Amino acid sequence: MKKALITGINGQDGSYLAEFLLKKGYDVHGILKRNSIAENQTARIEDIYPIIKYNLYHADMCDMASLLSVINNVKPDEIYNLAAQSHVKISFDQPIYTSNTIAGGMLNLLEIVRTLYPEIKMYQASSSEMFGNSLDDDGFQRETTPMEPVSPYACAKLFAYNLVKCYRKSYNIHASNGILFNHESPRRGQNFVTNKVVIGAVKIKKGLQQKLYLGNLDSTRDWGHAKDYVKIMWQILQLDEPDDFVCATGTSHTVRHLCDYTFSQLGMNYEDYVEQDPRFFRPLELQDLRGDTTKLASKINLELDYTFEEMIDEMISHWDERL
Ligand code: GDD
Repeated sequence: MKKALITGINGQDGSYLAEFLLKKGYDVHGILKRNSIAENQTARIEDIYPIIKYNLYHADMCDMASLLSVINNVKPDEIYNLAAQSHVKISFDQPIYTSNTIAGGMLNLLEIVRTLYPEIKMYQASSSEMFGNSLDDDGFQRETTPMEPVSPYACAKLFAYNLVKCYRKSYNIHASNGILFNHESPRRGQNFVTNKVVIGAVKIKKGLQQKLYLGNLDSTRDWGHAKDYVKIMWQILQLDEPDDFVCATGTSHTVRHLCDYTFSQLGMNYEDYVEQDPRFFRPLELQDLRGDTTKLASKINLELDYTFEEMIDEMISHWDERL
């Protein structure tokens, strides 16, 4: 039985990945960050909690001793590093913490693996944010597109991305980067735009809220489903050669279109309810994201189960039932 260790197991991606790996027959272990408000820490892994409750550990990406202790204890075959301060706008408010968790955290893991367990395969959750506003002439971003980050979050992700490449070449470690474009689901944090729009629209429909306040409506994102993408994380680690891969749908939509689609699915016109609020604008914005997955498709069977519309419909039904 293979053993996997997932940092950030209670996040959107960590929870879907844990479910996926359990179905594959893995012994799944996960790291949680201690939070002073303990309630809801395991909300996203409720369904699998009885199976993995003795495999959950408190550790922190900034505390190398805590990571070392977990890795010594678990001795995993694969590590999926999904833990992060993952909110781009909040990274402007907490740049040092963001960098420490993302860049310093990956360095801690790489040093432990390099010195003690060089046979462990590692996956790093790299991000399309690293491209910044850099686009190839055809409007896509791919592995060769120059990376010009425009947020502290993206700078930290780029540092970790480069560390993975550097350690792979220097020490022959099986470490890969998945350069994931935005990926969503009903488990997405509610302060990311997709779930914020869906929850806002459902609440407005039910008379629980009057308006929805958003920031930039004109940026575009390439939104896939997190469930599709965790399968790809695993596929990347099963390749003989570690490498770096863009993972995306190849289709992009504006935030405005997201609002239009969501509100019209609920029989409303978004223009009657959505207002822009300076609080939700960023000091610097990444305007356009659209990924080219040619390289990934040449290595794995790249089949996505969800379209953008199916994903938003699933999120609408989820919140419609719960709110
Ligand atoms: N969060 C948020 N809230 N975003 C808003 C809002 C709002 O009220 N109004 C407009 N937006 C715009 C943002 O300015 C951005 O252009 C877009 O919606 C998407 O924002 P987010 O959903 O917060 O995601 P993100 O693109 O910044 O970052 C996500 O994707 C990255 C992959 O490219 C995060 O998941 C990152 O962790 C991830 O690396």
